[in-house]
Amino acid sequence: MSDSTVIIVLGASGDLAKKKTFPALFGVFKDNFMPPNTFILGYARSEMDRSSFHDRFSKNLTKNDQDKGKVPQFLDLCEYVRGSYDKAEDFKNLNKEIEKREGGSKRRRIFYLALPPSVYGDVAKGLREHCYCEGGQNRLVIEKPFGFDTESSNKLGKQLSSLWSEEEIYRIDHYLGKEMVKNIIPLRFANVFFGTVWNRQSIDNVQITFKEPFGTEGRGGYFDEFGIIRDVIQNHLIQVLCYLAMEKPLSLDAEHVRDEKVKVLKCIHPLKEDDILVGQYTKSLDGQKPGYRDDEGVKKDSNAPTFAALVLHIDNDRWSGVPFIFKSGKALEEHKVEVRIQFQECPGNIFPGVSRNELVIRLQPNEAVYVKFQNKLPGLEMIPVVTELDLTYKERFPNQRIPDAYEALLLDVLNNNHSNFVRDDELEAAWEIFTPILHKIDANEITCEPYPYGSRGPSSLSAFVEKHGYKRD
Ligand code: NDP
Ligand code: BG6
Repeated sequence: MSDSTVIIVLGASGDLAKKKTFPALFGVFKDNFMPPNTFILGYARSEMDRSSFHDRFSKNLTKNDQDKGKVPQFLDLCEYVRGSYDKAEDFKNLNKEIEKREGGSKRRRIFYLALPPSVYGDVAKGLREHCYCEGGQNRLVIEKPFGFDTESSNKLGKQLSSLWSEEEIYRIDHYLGKEMVKNIIPLRFANVFFGTVWNRQSIDNVQITFKEPFGTEGRGGYFDEFGIIRDVIQNHLIQVLCYLAMEKPLSLDAEHVRDEKVKVLKCIHPLKEDDILVGQYTKSLDGQKPGYRDDEGVKKDSNAPTFAALVLHIDNDRWSGVPFIFKSGKALEEHKVEVRIQFQECPGNIFPGVSRNELVIRLQPNEAVYVKFQNKLPGLEMIPVVTELDLTYKERFPNQRIPDAYEALLLDVLNNNHSNFVRDDELEAAWEIFTPILHKIDANEITCEPYPYGSRGPSSLSAFVEKHGYKRD
């Protein structure tokens, strides 16, 4: 038998496994990126036989008729092992099941924790003690949330690092697997014309926007402990900021990239009260959509923000004085995640009153990069109008499939590439920016402004954004 890979999905009965992990593994498999001799073991406490295990996720594997033919082959690789997250004998049994599928001189085990963070510690310990392949390769993949603030994150970090080396740990932030996030590096560093204007001399402000048109429906219990800053800003959007603001890495090597990310994070001072606006959604104006506090699991007097606008300042040569404005919320008027870089006004402009240039990177939906610029309106008069240099992916690359973020990240784990995973010092630096303000919100020292479900957010948002320099056309 040639070298083997066993991927063990712990928490295989859960939501993430069903919606993301198994479909992503299938994506890697059907595009022939799965190494030969790979087996997949689902592990959880729920009672399931092989076929009910397959039934949990098989309908989510693909919507594409062309790929459906490969589903039975994929399911052949997937087995279920039942066991607890804290008993030595269950981990020993799991180890036996892994060994049955292994061979060759190189053995690789990938443990994917699709589990609530409350059990990470026990599971990481059980796996290290009973399922670790001495002499082989072992990788531990974990999902956010990585703690709750600096202290709890460091505590979890210490727990993990006493058992697993940093080299073996893969902290997933699925935004790092998104096509348009990955595109920021070539956009900045493989284009001379962007490189020369990417600084405080040319850029006035940067906006990073995350809007979802749905509330926390069904996830209220989780969300109420975390709120929008911990849910998407401290991780997903901060990762986007890192790529936008870091210096050019020495190479694409994972440690070179992550070194630069840490450096830029360390130039950001902890967020101050004047630089944040938080909101919480109430019923929609027509009364059809529930308010946040109507969600099961949400405290009736909850102060968890479902919306936050905030401004970060990067205190270094490149960015001093340029506000990075974040706007993010649930239950808003549209679905959109984008970066908008607004350039300064033309110095000595002979066309007074024209709007500023903007570079927009639309992460989702409908991936695109476009530049808003002034162009003469065709005709006999000299009239500048705002127009767009538009690279909309579905028009420019109609035949290219955009892989799901999890697919890209799982392939990175298989290839032992850490570039798109969060390093321990990076995580700590990100928490340090937000922990003081989060504690103030938790203590009700900063309170949420209500906004109706389906609106643009709290009514003071426009004034907040304008105060920090953004100018609408
Ligand atoms: P689930 O709540 O669905 O839990 C996964 C599995 O863990 C369950 O099927 C259950 O399996 C077991 N489990 C649940 N609660 C407990 C508990 N209190 N103690 C021990 N075992 C428990 O979680 P998700 O699949 O939604 O999420 C898994 C991880 O991924 C979490 O860290 C989450 O934050 C993260 N995540 C999830 C996303 C999603 O879309 N769902 C998106 C991004 C991150 P059994 O009882 O069979 O053992
Ligand atoms: C998750 C958050 O990490 O990211 C969710 O917990 C959020 O609240 C989701 O909806 C957004 O991810 P995506 O890929 O849908 O933009």
